[in-house]
Amino acid sequence: MAGEVGQMMSALRVSGPAAGLVGEAVVPGDKSISHRAVILGALAEGATAVSGFLNAEDCVNTAYAVEQMGVAIEGLGQANVLIQGVGLQGLEPPRGTLELGNSGTGMRLLMGVLAGQDFAATLTGDESLRRRPMDRIAEPLGQMSIQVEGHGPRCTPPVTVLGGVPKPITYHTPMASAQVKSAVLLAGLYAAGRTTVIEPAQSRDHTERMLAAFGAQVDIEGLAVSVQGQPDLQGREVVVPGDFSAAAFLLVAGLLVPDSEVTVRGVLLNPTRTALLEILQRMGADVQVTNERLITGEPIGDITVRSSDLVATEVGGEEIPRMLDEVPILALAATQADGRTVIRDARELRVKESDRLATTAEVLSAFGATVRQQPDGLVIEGPTALYGATIDSHHDHRIAMMAAVAGTIARGCTEIHGAQCIATSFPEFVSTLGDLGVDIRGQR
Ligand code: S3P
Repeated sequence: MAGEVGQMMSALRVSGPAAGLVGEAVVPGDKSISHRAVILGALAEGATAVSGFLNAEDCVNTAYAVEQMGVAIEGLGQANVLIQGVGLQGLEPPRGTLELGNSGTGMRLLMGVLAGQDFAATLTGDESLRRRPMDRIAEPLGQMSIQVEGHGPRCTPPVTVLGGVPKPITYHTPMASAQVKSAVLLAGLYAAGRTTVIEPAQSRDHTERMLAAFGAQVDIEGLAVSVQGQPDLQGREVVVPGDFSAAAFLLVAGLLVPDSEVTVRGVLLNPTRTALLEILQRMGADVQVTNERLITGEPIGDITVRSSDLVATEVGGEEIPRMLDEVPILALAATQADGRTVIRDARELRVKESDRLATTAEVLSAFGATVRQQPDGLVIEGPTALYGATIDSHHDHRIAMMAAVAGTIARGCTEIHGAQCIATSFPEFVSTLGDLGVDIRGQR
């Protein structure tokens, strides 16, 4: 696996508190867009050239899975990846089980694609992924007449998608989930007619943007997204912007460490992803966005933060799906904000790579913060001094990276065990934080 974290270490050691973090950084390509580029590139006619592809375990596992179904991909491990599309009907039955590692996105999106094949395929993953519910995909695929077999009432992996010809449906998702929306839309590519997904709140919209860019007919009306089945998808160039969810760790570090000024360049600014910026700004954060532009239909820009005194806030409702993966790092910011921060409507966090409400509360409490779990959120009292701690990542990259940023502001030494999971989304995390001035290193 490319990247320092996967190669070398299982534990991370951070010495804090850091003096001012000063400098510029870039972050790896967006994880959500990289998954979709591989999948749509595989299903298109002709070649798709992807630059800025996230060469981290999650997206590489998705690439390996489509390779196992007969798609040639050149350049994995490099920034430019070339996918030789086989067309909607061109996938071949895989010889073995498809191994998606830690990636819920890879598994759920591929389940949608497999719904339309004339073969059955089985998908599995690591310890964390094998605990995650796939009933949220099996249910709409069942309505499309496609059978999925998994374990227990929540249909946990390994899962087998039996394949067939999906019926076009209109599906109301019970939760705002881009993975569920995308799986149904991808299955809908194989249906004769129009498939519609209606969400309770807007989730990230990369699938619909990219489907349209590849030539599918996509219609959006409020929270309803429809795709016309059996399109001719055409391979194209995809430029993947920097991942906002990776940048979030550097931005919060820059806000919390005194005397800091950090700029992250070329970051995705899609509004379905950036609620954290709005929330930090209302907490009093000094955040500036410059050099805004569009690449391959997605807004990007440079984000600069300067150390700021934060005040507590309340977060919930439609903001949550637009900052889903940033809740752990927001919770850390809240430990340094004046007052009580309340995060609600975030029950979905309980079924991520770990139960992120529980693991965020556990990790921040270990640093000395005052954090209470609610069934659907967190209550955080601030500001509190943090002290170096020994932490377990719970196989969750975002928990490990949040703990590293907490270690950056904490007094004393922090050790994070199981930190190799950072390689699923941000393989250069340690050197990027180190270059900004953090005393951080990997240990075997
Ligand atoms: C993702 C969607 C989100 C997010 C995940 C990536 C995607 O999950 O947490 O990291 O790329 O579609 P849900 O769609 O399950 O909410």
